[in-house]
Amino acid sequence: MAQGVRGTRDFYPEDMRLRNWLFDNFDDAALLHGFQEYDAPVLESEELYTRKQGEEITQQLYNFKDKGDRKVTLRPEMTPSLARMVMSRAGVLPMPIKWYSIPQCWRYERTQRGRGREHYQWNVDIWGTDEISADAELISVLVTFFRSVGLTEEDLVIKMSSRKVLEEVLGSLGLEGDTFAKTCIIVDKMDKLPADVVSKQLSDLGLDENAIQTIQSTLAIKDMESLEKNLGKESAAVKELTSLFSSLDAYGISNWIEFDASIVRGLAYYTGPVFEAHDRAGELRAICGGGRYDKLLSTLGGKDLPATGFGFGDMVIMELLAEKGLVPELISGIDDVVISLSPELRNAAMSVASSLRGSGRSVDLVLEDKRLKWAFKHAERSGAQRLVMVMPDEWKDGKVKIKDLESGEETEVSVDSL
Ligand code: HAM
Repeated sequence: MAQGVRGTRDFYPEDMRLRNWLFDNFDDAALLHGFQEYDAPVLESEELYTRKQGEEITQQLYNFKDKGDRKVTLRPEMTPSLARMVMSRAGVLPMPIKWYSIPQCWRYERTQRGRGREHYQWNVDIWGTDEISADAELISVLVTFFRSVGLTEEDLVIKMSSRKVLEEVLGSLGLEGDTFAKTCIIVDKMDKLPADVVSKQLSDLGLDENAIQTIQSTLAIKDMESLEKNLGKESAAVKELTSLFSSLDAYGISNWIEFDASIVRGLAYYTGPVFEAHDRAGELRAICGGGRYDKLLSTLGGKDLPATGFGFGDMVIMELLAEKGLVPELISGIDDVVISLSPELRNAAMSVASSLRGSGRSVDLVLEDKRLKWAFKHAERSGAQRLVMVMPDEWKDGKVKIKDLESGEETEVSVDSL
């Protein structure tokens, strides 16, 4: 009974301090770019995720029937909830919208380093514009966050491509429609599965040997010159990526970005630029991922609206920060510890604590009879600035003794001036 459900985490106060620190940095980067926060319920209708292209995520649902026999699920990702929210106010919301959220998401995954069955996922999305400047703005949010926690372009790289690359290649082979999304989902696993398994899955999809080879050689391209040679100057994918890279240059963040055609992402709905951040050493799972998804609303029965965004989990980033020695040491944020040094002065200590709290200080009042030695240790452990001692002689004179725990200096202060 002392253990939680497999793949879930407890957050003790020290963990919670770190989580809040991480979320504050998420908030700051989004707010600096003019995004607004939103939220949605963790419980959603299962039909929001019943996409048929064979994505892993739809096989990992924490789904069940509620007491009214409705098929519901804990959300595995935020994007469909956001789509639902946008759709229900379509025509009313002034576009474009720039929204962010930090939802907890649930996926029945194989637990491993950086992957749990629940995680918090910072989501940053822009809806209502198909301009490539929106995609560039998202990368600026990402880089702003990375910088704020002390990471540099030597620690990680944002690998970027466009779904249009594969779309054009498949188009030239006469393959379109559902085959495209299904192919994306299969090739997304190329670095995790043996080559022959991937080839088998592609051939099961109806792709012949020539198509499979063409796809594999295209996905191996790692520079824009070769991409252009391969797809031609007039290729929509090449134009889109060239324009995106020029915007990123204008932001001064090109050195964080690399073109990599093997980035296609494992979700069905992406349609344009796609990206993932990876640690340079290549030891960890993806730090975050996202891209443009202009056609999601029609799959949910609405009218399409262009959209682009990313999801950023709270687990891999903490692994990377730990590896780089960038996890901060955070203290509790208590200003004063107040202690009465005789049982008769308990009420006096309460009134002292109240007036300090009234002036905005965070006060930990010692609730039992404790010795001074204990109080010192306790104050030190909680990272308090001062120990406020309510003592018989001083109290008679309307004073308390205050020890500054940093300088060690002791002063007597009148209660009225607290
Ligand atoms: P995703 O690639 O499935 O995309 O997840 C995005 C990020 O969430 C991953 O890169 C990782 O940081 C984190 N993540 C996912 N699953 C787990 C897990 N089991 N444990 C720990 N972390 C995890 C999406 O979910 C898209 N909806 C993102 C998006 C938003 N695209 C556009 N807007």
